[in-house]
Amino acid sequence: MNMQMMRGATHDVLILGTGLAGLRAALEISIRTRGAANIGIVSKVQVMRSHSVCAEGGTGAVMRPEEGDSLELHAWDTVKGSDFLADQDTVDRFVQAAPDEIRLLEHWGVPWSRREDGRIMQRPFGGHSFPRACMAADKTGFFEMRALYDTLLRYNNIKRYDECFVTSLLLDGDRFAGITVYDLPSGEFLVLRGKTLLIASGGLGNLYGFTTYSQTVTGDGQAIAYRAGLALEDPEFLQFHPTGLVPSGILMTEGCRGEGGYLRNNKGERFMEKYAPKMMELAPRDIVSRSEMTEIIEGRGFSQADGLDFIHLDLTHLGAERINDRLPLIREVCMKFLGLDPITQPIPIRPVAHYSMGGIEADIDGRTRVENIWAAGEVACHSMHGANRLGCNSTAECLVWGRITGGEIAKYLQAGSSFSEVSEQKFHDEELRIFGGLLQQSGTENPAQIRVELRALMDKHAGVYRTGESMKEGLGKVVELKQRFQGISIQDKSLVYNTNLVQTLETENMLDLAEVLLVAGLAREESRGAHARTDFSKRDDERFLAHSMVYFTGGTPDLRYKPVTVTNWRPVERKY
Ligand code: FUM
Repeated sequence: MNMQMMRGATHDVLILGTGLAGLRAALEISIRTRGAANIGIVSKVQVMRSHSVCAEGGTGAVMRPEEGDSLELHAWDTVKGSDFLADQDTVDRFVQAAPDEIRLLEHWGVPWSRREDGRIMQRPFGGHSFPRACMAADKTGFFEMRALYDTLLRYNNIKRYDECFVTSLLLDGDRFAGITVYDLPSGEFLVLRGKTLLIASGGLGNLYGFTTYSQTVTGDGQAIAYRAGLALEDPEFLQFHPTGLVPSGILMTEGCRGEGGYLRNNKGERFMEKYAPKMMELAPRDIVSRSEMTEIIEGRGFSQADGLDFIHLDLTHLGAERINDRLPLIREVCMKFLGLDPITQPIPIRPVAHYSMGGIEADIDGRTRVENIWAAGEVACHSMHGANRLGCNSTAECLVWGRITGGEIAKYLQAGSSFSEVSEQKFHDEELRIFGGLLQQSGTENPAQIRVELRALMDKHAGVYRTGESMKEGLGKVVELKQRFQGISIQDKSLVYNTNLVQTLETENMLDLAEVLLVAGLAREESRGAHARTDFSKRDDERFLAHSMVYFTGGTPDLRYKPVTVTNWRPVERKY
């Protein structure tokens, strides 16, 4: 293979990811530096195809202290919801910052749904003891993204690298220097150098077959950070949302239950009465998902030939007006995908992979252990959600840490900072690995088949309920798939727009992340939040009131632990 000159560009700031966190950070940096910081925003998709547009139900914040809500109550709900694994100082910072983000988005043009008195409407959400989800019908993420994108267009200090796949981080000693990028439209391999990097590339839910995520959500940011030496924190805590449409997995927003929807088993019973008598369908997601699975396992679900047994989400008592006004997307999706009208018919749903509580270890300011790399949004773990995130806290977190990390990066630049050296050797090694190696090799394994098998095994071995035995078996299969991956062949050998190559690189990332999740899950011999083991069914604060930290070694991942920050609330039993 002929080595090209190292080509690319330099920026004060590189932002990897164009979802809510990335765009919010770009705006904050632009505002704070009055448009002087030169920002490059890199994404493997086009901006408005970022998965944040799929957020539906709402953004959580305390907007009505005079009606009984409070920051302390929001913090307590979040900590209790997290099964006490959240860092409580981080939660405090979050609840304090969230209301301003709602007001700011109002100024930037989000058409919030309104109450009769004209104030922003907030609907109830799971685990929250006050209606806290600020909503734009059931298309909240789309409207938030549009407002951020429109506002960003006022600035001309931003260059977009759409449809550019980042393959690795380049460090210079212990400092960030640049990223290597496969530019799909041109087919070129580039280096982008930056004084600073914000990783805001979203989640990893396509590790699972049955998921609410877009096909593009493959954990690339987590994987490249991990291989560059950053720790992945709490990866075993993968959230299953209680209401994924069967069989597609499309999100049926928690807003359906927030608006008064019921969950019913095959006897027509509202079974949540048994599991969470006070909060019923609006208990936190870990509890509702486990309850649904118990109903299904004990024969009170609805059976299907493909194994996707389901429960009914019943909105029929809500009436056409409420559904059309508050849940128009839900109705449209049910009609288009199932030919079913939720005004008159119950919706088939089951727990679905939805969110990763874990991610790249970052401190309360979003800073990683590398001094000029920050992380924000789902890709990061600021330890704010612990073992189980509450609904509507995620879009809020993206906005809050977009703002915080943007502010920190602006300060860092204003204090004077320089570029680090990019090693030409490392750049060419990466180019050779991908274009000389992976793309040219002619093995017998099909990478797409490996991806299909990986997702099926994660559904089976690391689902709502887990055991040591099943995770061990799953881990063995992941290791086997990693070996098989060495013998793949990519059919499309072209350079321009090679989606076959991109999907193969994604699969390589997913294999690493599946291994990390299972290694941490196997070692955590307790049940906490979304990590529910039938062989260790109790929470064990003696041994595991701690964050898992997984490091890349090139061989078996290295697992360590770090303490949880407890400020106000000692762990107690969760009852809802
Ligand atoms: O159900 C939903 O609308 C999802 C919200 C969330 O994950 O926060």
